[in-house]
Amino acid sequence: MSAAQWEFEALLDYLKYSRGCDLTGYKRSSLERRFLVRMRELKIDSYLDYLHYLQIHSQEYIHLLNTVLINLTSFFRDRASWEYLANDIIPAIIASKQPDEPIRVWSAACASGQEVYSVVILFAEALGIESCLQRLRLFATDLDEDALSQARNATYKPKDVSEIPTELLEKYFEQTEQGDYIFHRQLRRRIIFAHHNLAKDSPMSKIDLLVCRNALMYFNSDIQITILIRFHFGLKNKGFLFLGKPEMAMTPRPIFTPVNCKHRVYQKGLKLGLEEHLYICSRSRKKPAIDSPTTHIRIWQTAFETSPFAQLAVDSNRCLILANAKANILFGLTLNDLGSSLQSLQPGQLPGLCQSFEKVNRDRNPVRLENVAWKTANDTTYFDISITPIFNADTQLICLTEVSPPPNKCTIKEGLVTNGK
Ligand SMILES: C[S@@+](CC[C@H](N)C(=O)[O-])C[C@H]1O[C@@H](n2cnc3c(N)ncnc32)[C@H](O)[C@@H]1O
Repeated sequence: MSAAQWEFEALLDYLKYSRGCDLTGYKRSSLERRFLVRMRELKIDSYLDYLHYLQIHSQEYIHLLNTVLINLTSFFRDRASWEYLANDIIPAIIASKQPDEPIRVWSAACASGQEVYSVVILFAEALGIESCLQRLRLFATDLDEDALSQARNATYKPKDVSEIPTELLEKYFEQTEQGDYIFHRQLRRRIIFAHHNLAKDSPMSKIDLLVCRNALMYFNSDIQITILIRFHFGLKNKGFLFLGKPEMAMTPRPIFTPVNCKHRVYQKGLKLGLEEHLYICSRSRKKPAIDSPTTHIRIWQTAFETSPFAQLAVDSNRCLILANAKANILFGLTLNDLGSSLQSLQPGQLPGLCQSFEKVNRDRNPVRLENVAWKTANDTTYFDISITPIFNADTQLICLTEVSPPPNKCTIKEGLVTNGK
């Protein structure tokens, strides 16, 4: 692996263990491309610098996720496949049921809802709206909360509905005063929208038709197989799976049989066996890059302890709770000083430091002091100091970097205090 690839893997590990955001199952090539898009927006050009950025900006991973999760979708995307679904699969599902029997559909990775509403329209055309309101039960899930809330709103711009034939548009949508189109209110209520992670959450159950289009392709083959095994669990016997054009239901044993390869429609095939159960178990037990949170914490502790920069942490009362080896030497700190007010200790005498805590607390943003003079009996040393809030821990981390040139002025810019003499 190249140095950049190592850094990228470290970044993914950091997101997984420190932010609970697991992207390790996605294909690396497209994932790296998406990360680079976000890094370019921030003018960051190395994965390591981006890791530091993520550490300081606790909400950044949400922006990253929005860039990584591609919500591209449309009504009746790949029209010919939807026509096949309407003409062959939906009638087969209806024919396999008693007249009043419920029909359960799951649109997994539904993005902003166009897919699930396309399914509803086709069933309503086949069964009639009244019967649909009685019998149809739908689940629409995605990892992306923003996309889900758009899906729940069911409101689309004219350009979004341009692919819907006029007679269906008039029948299933109402136009708002602003010219947007909102999907049929009662039919909409048949859908349960929920947050669901394909890569790790349990499937919906007893599904007759599972639509999961243009999402599998983002995962590596290992995760694709586990997702397909879960889909098999979720489907009823003879249940149908409808994938996207670039995708196939490829598993080591044929647990899905193709119904129509061209349109990517499959039906439950072989029953799940030991192999599939072991596959799921081995994946969930697979040893992560760092095997336990304890090891993870120890690595961070060691990095803190051995850092060439002096680092200190204070609690919400400005009392010292941690100092690394370099800070202890620099300021003559001992274990007895832990718990003491920083002001009563040597680092508390650094000009501008204690005053900056309030700004950090107020703005919830890091503050940087530049060229801070530290005078001792024999010498004057200059530091750049960063004070970073640690969210949910009511703690601030102070990091001092020794700098050479003495400053000659003192200014305060937004989010940055420049302190000099
Ligand atoms: C390209 S869109 C496909 C939307 C729709 N199925 C279609 O074909 O038009 C991919 C969707 O997969 C979702 N997605 C990505 N990773 C996911 C995961 N781990 N679990 C659930 N959804 C995920 C994204 O949020 C996005 O909405």
